[in-house]
Amino acid sequence: MATTPQILATQFIILSLLSSFALILVHGEDQDFVRALDRKLLGLKKEKFSHFKMYWHDIYSGKNPSAVGVVNPPINSSTLFGSVSMIDDPLTEGPESSSKLLGKAQGFYASASQKEVGLLMAMNFHFNQGKYNGSTITILGRNQVFDKVREMPVIGGSGLFRFARGYVQASTHTFNPTTGDAVVEYNIYVLHY
Ligand SMILES: *[C@@H]1O[C@H](CO)[C@@H](O)[C@H](O)[C@H]1NC(C)=O
Ligand SMILES: *[C@@H]1O[C@H](CO)[C@@H](O)[C@H](O)[C@H]1NC(C)=O
Repeated sequence: MATTPQILATQFIILSLLSSFALILVHGEDQDFVRALDRKLLGLKKEKFSHFKMYWHDIYSGKNPSAVGVVNPPINSSTLFGSVSMIDDPLTEGPESSSKLLGKAQGFYASASQKEVGLLMAMNFHFNQGKYNGSTITILGRNQVFDKVREMPVIGGSGLFRFARGYVQASTHTFNPTTGDAVVEYNIYVLHY
């Protein structure tokens, strides 16, 4: 027969175990593959909101194209549904091809719409200027190319653009329907540190 003090002691131990277990659940301290970090350790102080403006040159013509078709339209489709192009497009300060190079838009786009010309764009804007040299902004979105302004999400970034989020607005500056060459103005609105 257990005495009253023994029963009390047992109850105390059980309660202590239960409450520490509850604490572990709340704080996740039983997971040693994750830890909380102070964002200041990464030098992340105040989030900034920036607007970048540049021109995107998608050039199929000539000896050194920046865009190449890698999948031809698999079916007879007025929207070229299913076709894919790979790009390493210059990003410049002004609309002329001789304008100062700010970086490259690297990635691909694919015709993803059967009703109108609507592209799936997947691009990294890789900058080469000053403190932005080597940093990237990643854009993934829908581009209905014959609309005046197309909006696509900025889904992330690297370097100075770690934790980036925002959107771009793209509007065609020039388009040559014979060659497919296009120059598009990109306005990037991005929150970053
Ligand atoms: C492709 O489709 C268009 C419009 O539907 C039609 O006029 C044309 O003959 C088709 N071409 C081929 C090769 O099937
Ligand atoms: C950008 O960085 C690359 C690699 O570190 C370097 O070769 C290049 O000179 C830099 N460009 C500018 C404009 O700072």
